[in-house]
Amino acid sequence: MVKSIKDLNKKDLEGKKVLVRVDFNVPQDSDLNITDDSRIVAAIPTIKYLIENQAKVILVSHLGRPKGKFNEKMRLKPIAKRLSEILHQEVLALDEAIGDKVKTAIAQMKNGQVALLENIRFYPGEETNDAEFAKELASLAELYVNDAFGTAHRAHASTEGVTAYLSPAVAGFLMIKEVEMLGSKLNEPERPFTAIIGGSKVSSKIAVLKNLVQKVDTLIVGGGMAFTFIKAQGGQIGKSICENDQLDTAREIINLADQFDTALILPDDTIITPAVNANGEAINIFDSYKTTDKLETSVCASNQISDKFQGMDIGPVTREKYAKLISQSKTVIWNGPVGVFEFDSLEEGTKAVANALVELTKKGGTTIIGGGDSVAALEKFGIAKEKLTHVSTGGGASLEFLEGQVLPGLACLDGYDADSSDNANSSLKKSFAEELKKVSI
Ligand code: 3PG
Repeated sequence: MVKSIKDLNKKDLEGKKVLVRVDFNVPQDSDLNITDDSRIVAAIPTIKYLIENQAKVILVSHLGRPKGKFNEKMRLKPIAKRLSEILHQEVLALDEAIGDKVKTAIAQMKNGQVALLENIRFYPGEETNDAEFAKELASLAELYVNDAFGTAHRAHASTEGVTAYLSPAVAGFLMIKEVEMLGSKLNEPERPFTAIIGGSKVSSKIAVLKNLVQKVDTLIVGGGMAFTFIKAQGGQIGKSICENDQLDTAREIINLADQFDTALILPDDTIITPAVNANGEAINIFDSYKTTDKLETSVCASNQISDKFQGMDIGPVTREKYAKLISQSKTVIWNGPVGVFEFDSLEEGTKAVANALVELTKKGGTTIIGGGDSVAALEKFGIAKEKLTHVSTGGGASLEFLEGQVLPGLACLDGYDADSSDNANSSLKKSFAEELKKVSI
């Protein structure tokens, strides 16, 4: 297992300058007010542990994609302010991330004090993982902690490069929790184990679908991508979203489900909306309507959608079926909405999934939500993250981890072991693994 911050005690930390990579890439409104501080809150256990153990805490993060240039709108001052409020302690906001001024400020830090470097992506060497830049950044500290799970899929100077110059290099509490939830909890799940994978494109989720179909008992496919599967099985999907170049991939996943004895579940009924307007022009609902508009909807079988319509959400029969499948599971991973939930008229399917997960959590089931759009859906429905077992702070990172990819920001830390639960790709379904053993005997 990767070495964690818990392995460092007061003796290791007191008076030491610790560089801590956090992911404070939080959403802001046009006045730069933070609209969701979850990622800041999620890093607090690590920061507090370092304060309590009298370290000098030097935080480093990116915000947005400033492409190697200083950008006034992407400075980290508002984040330092929010962090000071949460910690009830002043956080020193620095205007730069490297250089003499930064070194002088750090030299004056007292034990237990916290400083936040300026947006690390203002420097071109960050994203190119430039060795000189990484060395310069590392020279600010003596130890390294990576707690930025959300950025662990990037091999950048502050997430990976600095570990060539700082030792020990360990994982923070958030990183450990994410890896445990998305790794070991899903590698040795309590069964039945169900995955709900939604979103519009099969192409963006091929790897995660191929990986999970070999592990779960039930794979529920929802959202726009379900139509590529339905078409691959010969269904009529009207003008619903479909990736014709992924039909073979969908068939491959259907075959894998057979091979691994996984129930692959597609929507039986679908909420449809007209695909053309009175002039016969194609309707893109995002261009034509506000999300609060009441849309003209009806329900039909998912494999019998006429050419004048497009599928937009799972129908009532499917809602009930998915909720039941969730309630019968002990472990569920959810990634991606099952409908265009941004529109009030098309939110019922995704809401039914989210509510069923909340109910399962209450009954003691394990429910894990992998970042991005599913988290946005929870927010829209006013479902607090505490009502689920774990809501990942990673979007792209959680997807890559679930695909079984090695995350460079994790793999560079002391003690990383690719064959352990540090890597999400280590286990097949027990029954299948046993079958395989029998064959090889
Ligand atoms: C995220 O929001 O997913 C992370 O902070 C990574 O950001 P990035 O996609 O710009 O690297």
